[in-house]
Amino acid sequence: KTVAIVGCPFRGGQSREGVDHGPIRLVQAGLPEQLAELGWTVNYDGHHQFEEIDEKNDPPIGKMKNPRLVSRVCEAVAKVVGDHAKHGQLPLTLGGDHSLAMGTISGTLSHYPDACVIWVDAHADINTPETTGSGNIHGMPVSFLLGLGPKVSEFAWVRPLLQPHRLVYIGLRDVDAGEKRILKENGIKAFSMHEVDKWGIGRVVEMALDHVNPKRDLPVHLSFDVDALDPSVAPSTGTPVRGGLTFREGHYICEAVYETGCLVALDIMEVNPSLGTGEDAVKQTVAVGCSLARSALGETLL
Ligand code: ARG
Ligand code: MN
Ligand code: MN
Ligand code: MN
Repeated sequence: KTVAIVGCPFRGGQSREGVDHGPIRLVQAGLPEQLAELGWTVNYDGHHQFEEIDEKNDPPIGKMKNPRLVSRVCEAVAKVVGDHAKHGQLPLTLGGDHSLAMGTISGTLSHYPDACVIWVDAHADINTPETTGSGNIHGMPVSFLLGLGPKVSEFAWVRPLLQPHRLVYIGLRDVDAGEKRILKENGIKAFSMHEVDKWGIGRVVEMALDHVNPKRDLPVHLSFDVDALDPSVAPSTGTPVRGGLTFREGHYICEAVYETGCLVALDIMEVNPSLGTGEDAVKQTVAVGCSLARSALGETLL
Protein backbone atom coordinates (compact mmCIF):
# COMPACT_ATOMS: atom_id res chain seq x y z
CA LYS A 1 0.00 0.00 0.00
CA THR A 2 1.31 3.37 -1.09
CA VAL A 3 0.29 6.87 -0.13
CA ALA A 4 1.22 9.68 -2.53
CA ILE A 5 1.63 13.00 -0.77
CA VAL A 6 0.48 15.89 -2.94
CA GLY A 7 1.74 19.06 -1.23
CA CYS A 8 -0.16 22.08 -2.55
CA PRO A 9 1.28 25.37 -1.34
CA PHE A 10 -1.64 27.36 -2.70
CA ARG A 11 -3.65 30.28 -1.35
CA GLY A 12 -5.43 31.72 -4.41
CA GLY A 13 -8.89 30.57 -3.29
CA GLN A 14 -8.95 33.05 -0.44
CA SER A 15 -7.29 36.30 0.56
CA ARG A 16 -5.29 35.60 3.72
CA GLU A 17 -1.52 35.29 3.56
CA GLY A 18 0.12 32.10 4.80
CA VAL A 19 -2.10 29.13 3.97
CA ASP A 20 0.31 28.30 1.15
CA HIS A 21 2.86 27.45 3.85
CA GLY A 22 0.61 24.78 5.39
CA PRO A 23 1.91 21.78 3.44
CA ILE A 24 5.53 22.76 4.01
CA ARG A 25 4.97 22.78 7.76
CA LEU A 26 3.08 19.48 7.72
CA VAL A 27 5.95 17.80 5.91
CA GLN A 28 8.59 19.46 8.11
CA ALA A 29 6.72 18.15 11.13
CA GLY A 30 7.49 14.65 9.90
CA LEU A 31 4.27 13.49 8.27
CA PRO A 32 5.99 11.37 5.56
CA GLU A 33 8.04 9.52 8.19
CA GLN A 34 4.99 9.09 10.43
CA LEU A 35 3.05 7.45 7.60
CA ALA A 36 6.00 5.20 6.78
CA GLU A 37 6.00 4.21 10.44
CA LEU A 38 2.38 3.07 9.99
CA GLY A 39 3.52 0.70 7.26
CA TRP A 40 2.80 2.81 4.20
CA THR A 41 5.17 3.17 1.30
CA VAL A 42 5.33 6.94 0.98
CA ASN A 43 5.61 8.51 -2.45
CA TYR A 44 6.68 12.10 -1.87
CA ASP A 45 9.01 14.05 -4.09
CA GLY A 46 8.56 17.66 -3.06
CA HIS A 47 5.68 20.05 -3.25
CA HIS A 48 3.65 20.66 -6.31
CA GLN A 49 5.00 23.51 -8.43
CA PHE A 50 2.32 25.84 -9.73
CA GLU A 51 2.38 28.16 -12.66
CA GLU A 52 2.02 31.71 -11.47
CA ILE A 53 -0.51 34.12 -12.86
CA ASP A 54 0.00 37.69 -11.83
CA GLU A 55 -3.03 39.22 -10.12
CA LYS A 56 -3.24 41.97 -12.68
CA ASN A 57 -3.59 39.36 -15.40
CA ASP A 58 -6.35 37.65 -13.45
CA PRO A 59 -9.16 40.12 -12.87
CA PRO A 60 -12.37 38.83 -11.26
CA ILE A 61 -14.86 36.94 -13.37
CA GLY A 62 -18.15 38.10 -11.92
CA LYS A 63 -17.49 38.02 -8.17
CA MET A 64 -14.86 35.27 -8.36
CA LYS A 65 -11.37 36.29 -7.27
CA ASN A 66 -8.24 34.87 -8.95
CA PRO A 67 -10.42 32.69 -11.19
CA ARG A 68 -7.80 31.77 -13.79
CA LEU A 69 -5.17 30.94 -11.22
CA VAL A 70 -7.52 28.79 -9.14
CA SER A 71 -8.84 27.04 -12.22
CA ARG A 72 -5.43 26.17 -13.64
CA VAL A 73 -3.99 25.04 -10.32
CA CYS A 74 -7.02 22.85 -9.60
CA GLU A 75 -6.91 21.37 -13.08
CA ALA A 76 -3.26 20.44 -12.53
CA VAL A 77 -4.07 18.98 -9.11
CA ALA A 78 -6.90 16.95 -10.60
CA LYS A 79 -4.47 15.41 -13.05
CA VAL A 80 -1.87 14.61 -10.38
CA VAL A 81 -4.44 13.10 -8.00
CA GLY A 82 -6.12 11.15 -10.81
CA ASP A 83 -2.77 9.75 -11.96
CA HIS A 84 -1.86 8.58 -8.47
CA ALA A 85 -5.25 6.89 -8.15
CA LYS A 86 -4.76 5.17 -11.50
CA HIS A 87 -1.47 3.77 -10.24
CA GLY A 88 -3.22 2.37 -7.19
CA GLN A 89 -1.75 4.93 -4.82
CA LEU A 90 -3.81 6.80 -2.25
CA PRO A 91 -3.43 10.55 -2.81
CA LEU A 92 -3.05 12.59 0.39
CA THR A 93 -3.37 16.25 -0.57
CA LEU A 94 -2.02 18.83 1.83
CA GLY A 95 -3.42 22.35 1.50
CA GLY A 96 -3.39 25.09 0.90
CA ASP A 97 -6.90 26.44 0.73
CA HIS A 98 -10.01 24.35 0.19
CA SER A 99 -10.59 25.50 -3.40
CA LEU A 100 -8.03 22.75 -4.13
CA ALA A 101 -10.73 20.16 -3.46
CA MET A 102 -12.23 21.07 -6.82
CA GLY A 103 -9.07 19.48 -8.16
CA THR A 104 -8.64 16.62 -5.73
CA ILE A 105 -12.24 15.39 -5.99
CA SER A 106 -12.23 15.79 -9.78
CA GLY A 107 -9.11 13.64 -9.79
CA THR A 108 -10.72 11.01 -7.58
CA LEU A 109 -13.91 10.92 -9.68
CA SER A 110 -11.90 10.56 -12.89
CA HIS A 111 -10.69 7.19 -11.67
CA TYR A 112 -13.52 6.22 -9.29
CA PRO A 113 -16.71 7.62 -10.87
CA ASP A 114 -18.88 6.14 -8.11
CA ALA A 115 -16.83 7.60 -5.24
CA CYS A 116 -18.65 9.35 -2.43
CA VAL A 117 -17.40 12.41 -0.58
CA ILE A 118 -17.33 13.04 3.16
CA TRP A 119 -16.73 16.78 3.64
CA VAL A 120 -15.71 17.70 7.19
CA ASP A 121 -15.83 21.46 7.67
CA ALA A 122 -17.33 24.36 9.60
CA HIS A 123 -18.44 25.61 6.17
CA ALA A 124 -20.35 24.05 3.29
CA ASP A 125 -18.10 25.59 0.57
CA ILE A 126 -21.07 25.27 -1.78
CA ASN A 127 -21.57 28.89 -2.82
CA THR A 128 -21.94 29.45 -6.53
CA PRO A 129 -20.31 32.37 -8.35
CA GLU A 130 -23.73 34.02 -7.93
CA THR A 131 -24.43 33.34 -4.24
CA THR A 132 -20.92 34.04 -2.92
CA GLY A 133 -20.55 37.07 -0.71
CA SER A 134 -16.76 36.97 -0.43
CA GLY A 135 -15.80 36.04 -3.99
CA ASN A 136 -13.32 33.58 -2.46
CA ILE A 137 -13.35 30.37 -4.46
CA HIS A 138 -12.48 28.24 -1.39
CA GLY A 139 -16.12 28.85 -0.46
CA MET A 140 -17.34 27.39 -3.79
CA PRO A 141 -15.61 24.12 -4.81
CA VAL A 142 -18.58 21.86 -4.03
CA SER A 143 -20.94 23.80 -6.31
CA PHE A 144 -18.59 23.26 -9.24
CA LEU A 145 -18.25 19.54 -8.53
CA LEU A 146 -22.06 19.23 -8.47
CA GLY A 147 -22.53 21.36 -11.58
CA LEU A 148 -24.63 23.99 -9.79
CA GLY A 149 -24.67 27.67 -10.69
CA PRO A 150 -23.88 29.39 -13.97
CA LYS A 151 -21.51 27.86 -16.49
CA VAL A 152 -18.16 29.64 -16.29
CA SER A 153 -16.02 28.90 -19.33
CA GLU A 154 -12.80 29.26 -17.33
CA PHE A 155 -13.90 26.21 -15.29
CA ALA A 156 -15.23 24.18 -18.20
CA TRP A 157 -12.71 21.40 -17.42
CA VAL A 158 -14.55 20.54 -14.15
CA ARG A 159 -16.81 17.58 -14.92
CA PRO A 160 -19.90 17.75 -12.67
CA LEU A 161 -19.54 14.09 -11.74
CA LEU A 162 -20.52 14.35 -8.09
CA GLN A 163 -24.13 13.48 -7.39
CA PRO A 164 -25.87 15.16 -4.44
CA HIS A 165 -26.64 11.83 -2.74
CA ARG A 166 -22.96 10.87 -2.83
CA LEU A 167 -22.01 13.88 -0.68
CA VAL A 168 -22.34 14.28 3.09
CA TYR A 169 -21.16 16.99 5.46
CA ILE A 170 -20.05 16.77 9.09
CA GLY A 171 -19.27 19.70 11.38
CA LEU A 172 -21.13 22.58 9.71
CA ARG A 173 -21.86 25.70 11.75
CA ASP A 174 -21.27 28.68 9.47
CA VAL A 175 -23.43 28.23 6.40
CA ASP A 176 -24.45 31.25 4.29
CA ALA A 177 -28.16 31.85 3.53
CA GLY A 178 -27.69 31.02 -0.15
CA GLU A 179 -25.84 27.84 0.78
CA LYS A 180 -28.68 26.72 3.08
CA ARG A 181 -31.06 27.10 0.15
CA ILE A 182 -28.74 25.09 -2.13
CA LEU A 183 -28.43 22.28 0.44
CA LYS A 184 -32.24 22.09 0.78
CA GLU A 185 -33.01 22.31 -2.92
CA ASN A 186 -30.58 19.53 -3.73
CA GLY A 187 -31.46 17.31 -0.79
CA ILE A 188 -27.86 17.24 0.41
CA LYS A 189 -27.33 15.49 3.72
CA ALA A 190 -25.49 17.49 6.37
CA PHE A 191 -24.71 16.80 10.01
CA SER A 192 -24.09 20.16 11.63
CA MET A 193 -22.63 20.60 15.10
CA HIS A 194 -26.23 20.47 16.33
CA GLU A 195 -26.51 16.86 15.19
CA VAL A 196 -23.07 16.06 16.61
CA ASP A 197 -24.26 17.39 19.98
CA LYS A 198 -27.56 15.54 19.72
CA TRP A 199 -26.43 12.09 18.56
CA GLY A 200 -22.75 12.00 19.39
CA ILE A 201 -20.01 11.60 16.82
CA GLY A 202 -20.30 7.79 16.69
CA ARG A 203 -23.92 7.80 15.47
CA VAL A 204 -23.30 10.78 13.21
CA VAL A 205 -20.48 9.06 11.33
CA GLU A 206 -22.56 5.88 11.06
CA MET A 207 -25.53 7.83 9.69
CA ALA A 208 -23.27 9.76 7.33
CA LEU A 209 -21.80 6.53 5.96
CA ASP A 210 -25.26 4.92 5.75
CA HIS A 211 -26.33 7.86 3.60
CA VAL A 212 -23.46 7.99 1.08
CA ASN A 213 -22.19 4.44 1.29
CA PRO A 214 -24.98 2.19 2.62
CA LYS A 215 -23.32 -1.08 1.60
CA ARG A 216 -19.82 0.17 2.44
CA ASP A 217 -18.73 -0.83 -1.03
CA LEU A 218 -18.10 2.56 -2.64
CA PRO A 219 -14.76 4.38 -2.65
CA VAL A 220 -14.62 7.26 -0.16
CA HIS A 221 -12.89 10.61 -0.61
CA LEU A 222 -12.48 12.35 2.77
CA SER A 223 -11.97 16.10 2.50
CA PHE A 224 -11.05 17.49 5.91
CA ASP A 225 -10.91 21.25 6.49
CA VAL A 226 -9.12 21.73 9.81
CA ASP A 227 -11.53 24.57 10.65
CA ALA A 228 -14.10 21.84 11.32
CA LEU A 229 -12.22 21.45 14.58
CA ASP A 230 -12.85 23.93 17.36
CA PRO A 231 -10.47 26.91 17.19
CA SER A 232 -9.11 25.83 20.58
CA VAL A 233 -7.94 22.63 18.86
CA ALA A 234 -6.87 24.05 15.48
CA PRO A 235 -6.32 27.78 15.91
CA SER A 236 -4.13 28.44 12.88
CA THR A 237 -6.67 28.58 10.08
CA GLY A 238 -8.13 31.36 7.97
CA THR A 239 -11.82 31.22 8.85
CA PRO A 240 -12.15 29.83 12.40
CA VAL A 241 -15.64 29.41 13.85
CA ARG A 242 -16.26 28.67 17.50
CA GLY A 243 -18.26 25.66 18.61
CA GLY A 244 -16.41 23.08 16.56
CA LEU A 245 -15.41 19.43 16.78
CA THR A 246 -13.27 18.35 19.69
CA PHE A 247 -9.86 16.78 19.14
CA ARG A 248 -11.34 13.32 19.62
CA GLU A 249 -14.43 13.92 17.47
CA GLY A 250 -12.20 14.96 14.57
CA HIS A 251 -9.95 11.97 14.97
CA TYR A 252 -12.91 9.62 15.44
CA ILE A 253 -14.23 10.59 12.00
CA CYS A 254 -10.87 9.71 10.45
CA GLU A 255 -10.57 6.44 12.37
CA ALA A 256 -14.08 5.35 11.46
CA VAL A 257 -13.56 6.14 7.78
CA TYR A 258 -10.31 4.15 7.82
CA GLU A 259 -12.15 1.22 9.41
CA THR A 260 -14.54 1.01 6.44
CA GLY A 261 -11.57 0.07 4.26
CA CYS A 262 -13.11 2.27 1.55
CA LEU A 263 -10.85 5.32 1.76
CA VAL A 264 -9.25 6.14 -1.60
CA ALA A 265 -8.25 9.79 -1.14
CA LEU A 266 -7.70 12.24 1.68
CA ASP A 267 -7.38 16.04 1.86
CA ILE A 268 -6.03 17.94 4.88
CA MET A 269 -6.83 21.58 4.15
CA GLU A 270 -6.61 25.15 5.44
CA VAL A 271 -3.67 24.84 7.87
CA ASN A 272 -2.33 28.42 7.95
CA PRO A 273 0.93 28.77 9.91
CA SER A 274 0.76 32.58 9.71
CA LEU A 275 -2.37 32.70 11.87
CA GLY A 276 -3.18 31.94 15.48
CA THR A 277 -1.65 33.36 18.63
CA GLY A 278 2.02 32.57 18.22
CA GLU A 279 4.24 29.62 17.47
CA ASP A 280 2.54 27.30 19.99
CA ALA A 281 -0.78 27.68 18.18
CA VAL A 282 0.92 26.92 14.88
CA LYS A 283 2.71 23.85 16.24
CA GLN A 284 -0.55 22.59 17.72
CA THR A 285 -2.45 23.03 14.46
CA VAL A 286 0.28 21.41 12.37
CA ALA A 287 0.47 18.51 14.81
CA VAL A 288 -3.30 18.03 14.62
CA GLY A 289 -3.15 18.05 10.82
CA CYS A 290 -0.55 15.28 10.95
CA SER A 291 -2.47 13.21 13.47
CA LEU A 292 -5.74 13.48 11.52
CA ALA A 293 -3.90 12.12 8.50
CA ARG A 294 -2.40 9.31 10.56
CA SER A 295 -5.81 8.36 11.96
CA ALA A 296 -7.36 8.27 8.48
CA LEU A 297 -4.48 6.06 7.34
CA GLY A 298 -4.77 3.50 10.06
CA GLU A 299 -3.22 4.70 13.29
CA THR A 300 -5.10 3.17 16.19
CA LEU A 301 -5.12 3.96 19.90
CA LEU A 302 -4.46 0.39 20.91
N1 ARG B 1 -18.94 30.82 3.24
C1 ARG B 1 -17.83 31.73 3.25
C2 ARG B 1 -17.46 32.15 1.82
O1 ARG B 1 -18.11 31.77 0.89
C3 ARG B 1 -16.64 31.13 3.98
C4 ARG B 1 -16.02 29.95 3.28
C5 ARG B 1 -14.86 29.39 4.05
N2 ARG B 1 -14.29 28.27 3.34
C6 ARG B 1 -13.19 27.61 3.72
N3 ARG B 1 -12.75 26.66 2.90
N4 ARG B 1 -12.55 27.87 4.85
O2 ARG B 1 -16.52 32.88 1.63
MN1 MN C 1 4.14 33.65 1.68
MN1 MN D 1 -13.99 25.76 6.49
MN1 MN E 1 -13.53 24.32 3.66
